[in-house]
Amino acid sequence: MTTSGLRESAQRSPATTRSLRVHHMERVAPQVLMVELRDPDGEPLPPYEPGAHIDVHLPDGAVRSYSLCGDPADRAAYRIAVLNQPGGQGSRFIHGDLRLGTAVTIAPPRNNFRFDAAPRYRFIAGGIGITPLLPMIREAARRGADWDLHYCVRSAAEAPFLAELRELDSDRAVGRVVVHAADEGRRLAVGDLLAATADDALIYCCGPQRLMDAVADAARPSQDVRFEWFAPRSDAGRDAAPDGRFEVVCARSGVTVTVTEGVSVLDALDAAGVSVASSCEQGICGTCETAVLEGEPDHRDSVLSDAERAAGKTMMICVSRARGARLVLDI
Ligand code: FES
Repeated sequence: MTTSGLRESAQRSPATTRSLRVHHMERVAPQVLMVELRDPDGEPLPPYEPGAHIDVHLPDGAVRSYSLCGDPADRAAYRIAVLNQPGGQGSRFIHGDLRLGTAVTIAPPRNNFRFDAAPRYRFIAGGIGITPLLPMIREAARRGADWDLHYCVRSAAEAPFLAELRELDSDRAVGRVVVHAADEGRRLAVGDLLAATADDALIYCCGPQRLMDAVADAARPSQDVRFEWFAPRSDAGRDAAPDGRFEVVCARSGVTVTVTEGVSVLDALDAAGVSVASSCEQGICGTCETAVLEGEPDHRDSVLSDAERAAGKTMMICVSRARGARLVLDI
């Protein structure tokens, strides 16, 4: 992110959507608005796990993804928190147009940032990047897990959810919430923090690109670090082969298309009438994830882990290509 939790697209084949209503709005920091959405008839909402996000469909057809920052145990509401970014289409809609009762079209929760079991957790957030981490921290606190949070902000007064986080830090003697406020000259020394982090700690990080890049650079190979990317990671194409032509066979629909240089698999399939749901079209949201039956993907996304890339069982067809002459996809 520049951190409003936004990924953008013109969505050509949207996932199933539903209309919710704005039930509650609250300013959780001077530039951050928390919005609570509920079903208009009070129906329970599809469940989600910590780390999930929803796609919000803007009136002009664009789509923005926002992390769910509420309590997954609350099936009545989805909560998102949005930074007011000058010129940001999504933030202009959220901050400028929403009122209590406004209808908002969303796609159901998806999760590319799963909260896994671990002996201990280290959370690293930058500003609005706290949003996907908040439900994880709540869950870690609920389980009585060993956790801490390093929260990088311009100032403590502008830190969303800081009071709630401090509430979760019930054992104040331990001091689990460490605020690194730039205006107090207390910037996070990322290298020192990663060096002092045990290998059995699961590290979750979300924030501005420079923070996530710094954490990625400082992490040892033996450390398990999970990132939520809101813009393509700078090394997304780290193993990419040169662009070339290849064939994509759609096993279920029986369609075969040739993907040429400079054209994505998603675009080639769309032109051939094969519809696959997409959202960001930058390899960061996971909406277009497609199962690979044969062939070797050339991964260029920011979603899959190195292990998932190596397994080659799925690929993000909006950005990823083929290493060989042919891919068979489960579509
Ligand atoms: Fe978002 Fe492909 S559409 S990863």
